[in-house]
Amino acid sequence: MTPRPLGSTGLEVTPLCVGTSPLASMPRLYGYDVSDERAVATIEAVLDSPIRFIDTSNGYGEHGEAEKRIGLALAARGGLPADVVLATKVDPDPVTGDFSGKRVLASYEESLERLGVDRVPLLYLHDPERISFEEAVAPGGAVEALVRLRDEGRVDYIGVAGGPVRLLAQYLETGKFDALLSHNRYTLLDRSAQSLFATARQRGIGVVNAAPFGGGMLAKGPDVQSKYGYGERDERIADAARAMAAACARHEVPLPAAALQFSLRAPFIDATVVGVSSPERVDQTLEYAGLEIPEGLWAELETMVPPSDFWLD
Ligand SMILES: NC(=O)c1ccc[n+]([C@@H]2O[C@H](COP(=O)([O-])OP(=O)(O)OC[C@H]3O[C@@H](n4cnc5c(N)ncnc54)[C@H](OP(=O)(O)O)[C@@H]3O)[C@@H](O)[C@H]2O)c1
Repeated sequence: MTPRPLGSTGLEVTPLCVGTSPLASMPRLYGYDVSDERAVATIEAVLDSPIRFIDTSNGYGEHGEAEKRIGLALAARGGLPADVVLATKVDPDPVTGDFSGKRVLASYEESLERLGVDRVPLLYLHDPERISFEEAVAPGGAVEALVRLRDEGRVDYIGVAGGPVRLLAQYLETGKFDALLSHNRYTLLDRSAQSLFATARQRGIGVVNAAPFGGGMLAKGPDVQSKYGYGERDERIADAARAMAAACARHEVPLPAAALQFSLRAPFIDATVVGVSSPERVDQTLEYAGLEIPEGLWAELETMVPPSDFWLD
């Protein structure tokens, strides 16, 4: 967990980052509820661990529950430890859907209040697929507001965090972003973000890969977690995950260890974001990150990758 540079930003981050969307209790996405107590205990376990990078968002939970719960845990610890990088994201107004520059500034203020901090070093534009690119980059739009926050020193770095790789590439082409986060698109089952990540890395943009378990399927197994990438799954994806689980079992490696290390070992990824919702998961995730995996297993898993038409866009 030695911190390393996040692209050419001045930030240093641990290769593992804890993702907090499950802490918002979103049973529609994850299939279970998470109480305030469990969420706070999870963040406390993270603060006690060597992981020094936390990912959240204004929009995790209908009323920002993830940020509020992180705020409770930080308050109980007397504030954010100086060596922890806390990143959050700006989201549209949950009632009107407004995602203008004005809303970006309001979203950031809301986040700071919930988290109980004065600023965050890294602020992402979250899921920009919810508005058109033209709207986001127009005068008075979301991108201009983020750049203003950075120019005014209210955040150190700005990033774009979302799914569709072609759209993310368009945002990176603007030259305004310091960091990129994509999710579910560089996993054992899906490689759609690989060339975007490699290009971002070459340009000095920090690269963050989220959801190495495909939202849970590669951690719990396809027979327990029926969703894949937060949506309905194609059975052929589940079959590939089953074949991979069997290959892992032959090598006596837990499937989630291989899924996690697949991202951790990629030369173009600075940090991997894993969603956790209970304190035990923190140690378990660190254990998975440290297990030795035989080279032969990687070669075998490569033969099982579903063809690109099954990958997310
Ligand atoms: N657009 C964006 O910015 C964006 C999009 C997606 C994700 N993200 C970030 O990335 C994070 C990771 O994504 P994610 O949480 O959706 O997906 P993920 O990391 O692929 O999977 C998380 C799921 O895996 C389960 N899990 C983790 N470790 C496990 C283990 N050892 N055994 C069994 N199950 C395990 C968790 O269940 P338990 O709750 O049981 O631990 C959770 O349901 C998010 O929390 C968020 O911070 C950002």
